[in-house]
Amino acid sequence: MRMVKFSLALIDDEESIREGICMALVPEYDIEAFATAETALERIKTSLPDLILLDIGLPGMNGIDALRKIREISPDILVIMITAYEDIDTVISAMKLGAYDYVVKPIHMDSLMITIGNALESIRLRKEIRVLQEGYLRENLPCFIAESNEIQDIMDFIASVAKSPDTPILILGETGTGKELIASSIHYRSPNFKGPYVTVNCATMPRDLIESELFGYEKGAFSGASPLGKKGLLEDAAEGTLFLDEVGDLSLEAQAKLLRFLENGEFYRVGSTQKLHIRTRVVSATNKDLGGMIEQGLFRSDLFYRLSVITVHVPSLNERPGDILPLANHFLVRFSQKFDKKFIALSAEAQDALKRHPWSGNVRELKNLIERGVLVGNGPELTLKDLGIDKTVVERGDIRQTKTPSPSAFPPIPPEGYDFEQAEKAFEKFYIEEALRMADGNESKAARLLHMNHHTFRYRRKKYV
Ligand SMILES: Nc1ncnc2c1ncn2[C@@H]1O[C@H](COP(=O)(O)OP(=O)(O)OP(=O)(O)O)[C@@H](O)[C@H]1O
Ligand SMILES: [Mg+2]
Repeated sequence: MRMVKFSLALIDDEESIREGICMALVPEYDIEAFATAETALERIKTSLPDLILLDIGLPGMNGIDALRKIREISPDILVIMITAYEDIDTVISAMKLGAYDYVVKPIHMDSLMITIGNALESIRLRKEIRVLQEGYLRENLPCFIAESNEIQDIMDFIASVAKSPDTPILILGETGTGKELIASSIHYRSPNFKGPYVTVNCATMPRDLIESELFGYEKGAFSGASPLGKKGLLEDAAEGTLFLDEVGDLSLEAQAKLLRFLENGEFYRVGSTQKLHIRTRVVSATNKDLGGMIEQGLFRSDLFYRLSVITVHVPSLNERPGDILPLANHFLVRFSQKFDKKFIALSAEAQDALKRHPWSGNVRELKNLIERGVLVGNGPELTLKDLGIDKTVVERGDIRQTKTPSPSAFPPIPPEGYDFEQAEKAFEKFYIEEALRMADGNESKAARLLHMNHHTFRYRRKKYV
C-alpha cells in the first residue's frame, strides 16, 4: 500500500540547519527547504504544505512577518517556529499570531520529530472531525424526502442560494409542509455549517421577552433580569444561522431592531448603549399571510423586504402528490423501527386512500396518521383499518372527487374583486358546521357526511370552527 506522505516546508537561512533537518525528515516526509521567507511565500501561494517550520531570525522578511503572511494565505496551516533562546519574547508574539509550537536551537532531532508528529496528529484529528460531520449530515439529511419534481426543484434552489453565507431567506408555506426541515438543511448546506444553528420560535416565546431573548440585555436592564446581563440568541448564532420560526409573531419593537440588524449587522442589547456587530444568516419562516399582516399594520413592510431577499415557497402536499407515498413509506419504516413492529408495506387500498386524501395538515398530518396506524396495527401490511379510514368513504371518493357544483351556484365576482381565501374558509366552515348539525354533534357521522376520514374532519374543525 502506498502511503501519502505529509508535505513540509522548511524556511531557515542557515544552510547547515536546512541540511540537517532535511536529512532527518526526508524518509518520512516530503520536505522542501527555502533560505528566505520571500522565496518560500511565492511557492506556498501555489502549493500549500501541511506544515511549515519557520525560523524567526531571517534576513529580509523576518519570521514574524512571514507568519502573518502565511496566515493570510491559509489561516488553518500549522506553523512551528524555530528560534534561538534569546528570542523568547518574539516566540510569545508568534504564538499569539497562531503558531502551533516552537523549537529552540540547537535543534534536537528527536524532540523536533515529536513536535512535528503532534502537529500532524492535530491535522489528522481535524480531518477525522470533518469526516464525522459529513457522515452525520449524510445520516440526517436524507430524512428529508424529496421525490417530487416540485420539491427537488426547491432543494436545488436551496443548494445554490445556501452558498452565500448571509443572504436572508424567507420560507413560506402552509402548516406542516416542512419549512423547519428546509431551514435546517439551508444551514447544513451553507458555509455557516461550522457555526451554530439557533432556532427561535417567535410564536411560543412570550412577546415581552422576545426582544431581550433575541438581542440579549445589559445588567439591570429590567426588573427580574439576571444581574450579570445576558447574551442574546442572535449573538449565539454568530457565524452560523439564526432561524426565526413563525416570524409573523414578532412584536413590532423586535421587528424594528431586527430590521436595523439586517441593514447593517448592528444591534444593541436591551438597556445598553454599546453597539454590537455580528455576522449570521437569518432564515425565517411563516404560514401566515404576511401581505395581509402588512396591510393591517402588524408587520413592517421594510422588514418583509429585508427578510425575503430570497423567498422559498414550499408547495402543499396536495400540490406535489408524487411525495405522498414515498413519505408514507419513509414514516412507515421509521415508526415500525421505533415501536418495534414488523410493517413492511402499505396495502394497495391504503395507498389509494392516501393518494386521494385532502392533506390540509400536509406532511405533519401524514406523519401523524402513519404513526398512529403503526402503533395500533400489527403488520406486515398497513391497512385502511390501521389508518382509521372508513372503506365505504374511500370507495365513494372523498370530497375532492365529487362533482363540482354548477358554477351558477356561486356568486359572480364583483367589480372590486373577491377575497377568495376568505370565501374558501367560509365555505369549509359552513359545511363543517352544517354536517355537525345534521349529525347531532357526532364527529364520525359528520365526517362521513363530508366523505372525510375522522382525522381530517377533526383537523379542519379545529382549524376553522
Ligand atoms: N420532506 C419531508 N421529509 C420527511 N419529513 C418531513 C418532510 N417534510 C416535513 N416532514 C416532517 O413533517 C413534520 C412537519 O414539518 P415541519 O415542522 O418542518 O413543518 P412546518 O412547515 O414548519 O409547519 P408549521 O408551519 O406548522 O410550523 C415534521 O415532523 C417534519 O419532520
Ligand atoms: Mg414550523
